[in-house]
Amino acid sequence: MSTTWHRRKFIKSSAIATVGISALTSGIQSFAAPKKNKVRMGLIGVGARGVGHLGLCLRRADVEVVAICDPDTNWAIPNARKKIQELYGNKKVAEYTNGNEDYLNLLKRDDIDAVIIATPWEWHTVQAIAAMKAGKTPAVEVCGAMDLQDCWDLVNTSEATGVPVFGMENVCYRRDVLAVFNMVKQGLFGEIIHLQGGYQHDLRGVKFNDGEHLYGGGVEFGEKGLSEAKWRTLHSVHRNGDLYPTHGLGPVSNTIDINRGNRLVSLVSMATKSRGLHKYIVDHPKGGPNHPNAKVEFKLGDIVSTLIKCNNGETIMLSHDTNSPRPYSLNFRVQGTEGLWMDDQKSLYVQGKSPNDQWEKTGDFKDPNSYFGKYDHPLWKRFEKDASGAGHGGMDYFVINAFVECIKRGVEYPLDVYDLATWYAITPLSERSVAEGGMVQAIPDFTKGKWMNRKPTFGLSDEY
Ligand SMILES: NC(=O)c1ccc[n+]([C@@H]2O[C@H](COP(=O)([O-])OP(=O)(O)OC[C@H]3O[C@@H](n4cnc5c(N)ncnc54)[C@H](O)[C@@H]3O)[C@@H](O)[C@H]2O)c1
Repeated sequence: MSTTWHRRKFIKSSAIATVGISALTSGIQSFAAPKKNKVRMGLIGVGARGVGHLGLCLRRADVEVVAICDPDTNWAIPNARKKIQELYGNKKVAEYTNGNEDYLNLLKRDDIDAVIIATPWEWHTVQAIAAMKAGKTPAVEVCGAMDLQDCWDLVNTSEATGVPVFGMENVCYRRDVLAVFNMVKQGLFGEIIHLQGGYQHDLRGVKFNDGEHLYGGGVEFGEKGLSEAKWRTLHSVHRNGDLYPTHGLGPVSNTIDINRGNRLVSLVSMATKSRGLHKYIVDHPKGGPNHPNAKVEFKLGDIVSTLIKCNNGETIMLSHDTNSPRPYSLNFRVQGTEGLWMDDQKSLYVQGKSPNDQWEKTGDFKDPNSYFGKYDHPLWKRFEKDASGAGHGGMDYFVINAFVECIKRGVEYPLDVYDLATWYAITPLSERSVAEGGMVQAIPDFTKGKWMNRKPTFGLSDEY
């Protein structure tokens, strides 16, 4: 089927077409599109993450949830039904549960504008591409490139079909992250030179479900070993690189205008030896040295460090650390010629303002005299109440809000297909760098030169 055909079909079938085409051809400007009052939504994957998005959509008066899709009729679908019953009563939401390919039938519907994809990583690209080809604008969960071609396929399909893609990187909307974004944009730290971020999260109980964790994607600690594995654990068996770069990279990219006046140029990655998962299995009361999982060889190094060089001279350090005992931290640091912020310390230092050589606390958002009080982002000031109770301290509200508001207003997504492709690409590139002993890898320019003229959009509105 030719791309021209898809393009024509899309233009006919959806008002959002105008949004995508004008955005992608102009590359730099806001664009006019017919406004919508309501977004008709489909959800693909309603597991641990997807059901949270479902709840947020069901609560919005400007979203109509039309259909859900998930092959798991034991847990995911009944759980989603409960949520639908709770928030929609007897109103009907269609279900597509007939295996891994049934999302294609959901995409054939002509009463859906947009889809949210919250499936295992290996499905993100294929489902996003199918959605674009069907004329539905997809919001895609974090991480998911199996190789670089996946990233190019996302970009090329979006450009060919004219359908925009929204990258669901929720940490970009974390309250402290947005306050620091504000500090950077108002010049508090001077010119930015170095940034850090990462995914430092003890996922041993997720990868080998100890019954206490609600995350999906792990494997039961049963007798059958890895044959019971769902999806997440297998990536630690077969891959060695930064498997989850976007929570760290997304937020810091926005502060230095990546893909909008700046770009990621190259990276090097190195991995430590792999010890944590094997030790966890051996030490676990339901495991032991003879458990089938104790024989599994994990390829993923316990800590993978990646150093990225940016076009405008900044460096970004990312850390992936999910196999060791440790408290959760995204390891943020934003440093400029006048000072720096460090997430772990909840502190900052600004030359000439802070006492010499001493950290100052970032403070409480409720205290107007604290740094966080002063720099609280307009989005949080406006939507704090609506966001309360939403997942991950409220930030999940902002992701759905941005997706829906941009469709309704016919404006460019602040986190778009170029961002998603660039962030996703870190995983295969870091795998290659680790495999080559830390060799430098060029990071493709997915914007094909448009980054030089594209203007920043993220964080500049108090509406999305
Ligand atoms: N942004 C965040 O803070 C955050 C947090 C958790 C998970 N995630 C991301 O969300 C995604 C899902 O993670 P999860 O924890 O919900 O995993 P999960 O295993 O609980 O849910 C995935 C769901 O997708 C379904 N699925 C599998 N193949 C499918 C297919 N072909 N079509 C439709 N549905 C299919 C599964 O049955 C399952 O119910 C992952 O990409 C993960 O990285 C993001």
